[in-house]
Amino acid sequence: ISVSTPPSVAFLNGQFSAENVIKKVTRSGDLRGVFHDGDSWQAISPETPIYEVEMLRSPQGEGELYAGVTHLQPGRVGDEFYMTRGHFHQRREQGEVYFGLKGAGLLLLQDEKGDARLERVSPGSVHIIPGFSAHRLINTGNEILSALAVWPSIAGHDYASLTQGFALRVVERGGKVQVREVQNG
Ligand code: F6R
Ligand code: ZN
Repeated sequence: ISVSTPPSVAFLNGQFSAENVIKKVTRSGDLRGVFHDGDSWQAISPETPIYEVEMLRSPQGEGELYAGVTHLQPGRVGDEFYMTRGHFHQRREQGEVYFGLKGAGLLLLQDEKGDARLERVSPGSVHIIPGFSAHRLINTGNEILSALAVWPSIAGHDYASLTQGFALRVVERGGKVQVREVQNG
C-alpha cells in the first residue's frame, strides 16, 4: 500500500506547499466600476495589485472540487475597503466553503432577491456559502486577508449578473468600519 503526500496549505498564512499552483492576480485596473468612488479609483495606478488567488491544479468535471486561497491586500479606494469583485456561480445552485486563515475582514453574501448580509472573517472562521448566493471578500484590517475556498469545479463564475452591484458597501469612517446600504446598486 502506498501512502502519498498531498499538497499542504499553511493555515497561518495560506501558502500552498505545491509548486505548480495556478496564480491569478487582480489589479486595480481590472476593477473598473467596482468601487463607488470612481475618482479615487482613477487616481491609483491600474497596476496596483489588489488580490491574488492561488489554486491547486485539480481535475474538472461533475463531482470534482477546487481549492484555492485568496490573498486580499489591505487598503482602500477612497473610503472603501479593498475587496474582491464578487460573483454568483454560473451554476447558481452550487455552494462553496470559505475558511478564514489570516487577517480580518468580512464576507458579503447576497441572494438573488438582493438581500445582503455579512459574516466576520477571522483566522479559523468557517463560512458556508449556500447556493444562489453572490459572495465577496472585504479586507477591513491592516494586513493581508487570506481565506481558503473549496468549491465544485462545475460551479463556474458569473460576474455579469452583479452589474447592479451588491446592496452593501463597507467603508472607513473616522477610523471605524462602517456598513452602508446602497440605494439602487
Ligand atoms: C471561487 C471563489 C473564490 C474567488 C476569489 C476571487 O468560487 O469564490 O476563489 O474566485 O476570492 O474573487 P472573484 O472571483 O470574485 O474575483
Ligand atoms: Zn465562488
